[in-house]
Amino acid sequence: MNVLRVQCLAGFGLEVPDVEVARAFYGSFGLAAADETAGVLGLSSRRAVSAEILLLPGRHKRLHHLSFGVHAADLPRFEEHLRGLGVAPSSPTFSRIRAGLWFEDPWGTWVNLTPAAYRPPPSAEPPTMEPRIDRHLWRELEQQVRPNRLGHMLIFTPDWQKAERFYSDALGLRTTDRAVGKVAFMAAGSGVRDHHCFGLIHGSHRGFQHASFHVDGIDQIGFGALQMKHAGFSEGFGPGRHAIASNLFYYARDPWGSWIEYYADMDKVSEDWKAQDWNDLPYVWPEWAPEFWSREMNANLEPR
Ligand SMILES: [Fe+2]
Repeated sequence: MNVLRVQCLAGFGLEVPDVEVARAFYGSFGLAAADETAGVLGLSSRRAVSAEILLLPGRHKRLHHLSFGVHAADLPRFEEHLRGLGVAPSSPTFSRIRAGLWFEDPWGTWVNLTPAAYRPPPSAEPPTMEPRIDRHLWRELEQQVRPNRLGHMLIFTPDWQKAERFYSDALGLRTTDRAVGKVAFMAAGSGVRDHHCFGLIHGSHRGFQHASFHVDGIDQIGFGALQMKHAGFSEGFGPGRHAIASNLFYYARDPWGSWIEYYADMDKVSEDWKAQDWNDLPYVWPEWAPEFWSREMNANLEPR
């Protein structure tokens, strides 16, 4: 029997005080919006099978739920496994917003396990990697950015080590590296995968830190940053290249002080990968900006 593991990050939910503000922000980022039932707005990237982000009306911007994809046949096994850990699956009033199993983690965050197959990112290399003779690359570049798919998200959590253990034991997420004492990066599924699809950041309370969507390379990241600026969402950070996981990035600040990221070119890890604790800075370029990174980038502005 296969090892019981979630296969991918399927999505997440946020409560937001103004769904129309959120629609404009994520629409500018390149996600397509589709109204779901009962005022829930679903947002999808280009290759999404179902909505990755669900936005629900609320008093404050707040993390509402996490959703991981599992093999449909594993759902009864997860139910039994979770009960064994003392976590009883239940049925919140909003359970119909995503199919599958729901449970509350020990910190009160709702988690959904939904039937969804892992789909690897598109294998096409960015056009800058192809031989280019007698051509104008700049005239061929796609300037409109519509991300390929949700890649990963990070949440703030108290009891950081305990939370890492819980997500490993309960969902089979494998820790792939740590920024020591601060961030645990975790991969889903088996075999070769993105370095992480989920991460936990040590914090005073639960909150959404950022979600990251895959795009085709540095040009899409650059055009994405421009796209956001032209839409009036000019606060951002990057582009740059991360340390742990090595992905290229650009972060745009959302209207509530958390972040959305375009990423490309992330390290992959196999079953042989050994997690390490790192003391290095979170990115290798651009220049280190402690005043930004330690304050803005790591602010959990959600109510406790
Ligand atoms: Fe990220």
